[in-house]
Amino acid sequence: MAFEIRLATAADEDGLAELDLATWSSLASPAPKPLPESGWTFFDDRTKPEQIHVAVSDEKIVGYVKLSREIDLPSTQHVRSIHGLAVYPHFRGFGIAKALMRVAEAQARAEGATKMTLRVLGHNEPARGLYASLGYEVEGVLRGLFRLDEVYVDDIVMALDLTAAVS
Ligand SMILES: CC(C)(COP(=O)(O)OP(=O)(O)OC[C@H]1O[C@@H](n2cnc3c(N)ncnc32)[C@H](O)[C@@H]1OP(=O)(O)O)[C@@H](O)C(=O)NCCC(=O)NCCS
Repeated sequence: MAFEIRLATAADEDGLAELDLATWSSLASPAPKPLPESGWTFFDDRTKPEQIHVAVSDEKIVGYVKLSREIDLPSTQHVRSIHGLAVYPHFRGFGIAKALMRVAEAQARAEGATKMTLRVLGHNEPARGLYASLGYEVEGVLRGLFRLDEVYVDDIVMALDLTAAVS
């Protein structure tokens, strides 16, 4: 599977909105799926193109990762967070998410960050497998934080030491 990764631009709105909506599920997100007719857009005040890297195959956006800050304080300037990651089902299993994560980590390092954090739902086995394979470790579990499809689901905090050697 040939793909390239580049920084997003504002012109990627439609491709990213389509990808985000197509991959939205209670396996990956505790929030309800947004309704485009309600005025939802992928880019907004909290999601800017410079935070997003996209994976492109045959000129189509097939994956993205969002780099953000969970807590933006002077005392957390060394921390970055992954706040969004998705790959179209037909493009999974080819290393696209892994490549996106490595690019986001490189951007965080370039900005001087030494720690990356993320949150993943306890029942999201593919994402947990991905993060574990990339060296992320569980640093906390918020038990039963969400009730999704009538089941209590843990929120798992994982983190990577960005100063450690990349495997
Ligand atoms: C999670 C997701 C991004 C993975 O994307 P992907 O491009 O298929 O992942 P990769 O091909 O880069 O996989 C890299 C590694 O992750 C792990 N992994 C990937 N899919 C997995 C699965 N279904 N089960 C267990 N481990 C898995 C494996 O270790 C894999 O390495 P390997 O192929 O050498 O075994 C994709 O399944 C997705 O978009 N899911 C819906 C959105 C989502 O859950 N986002 C994360 C929210 S926290």
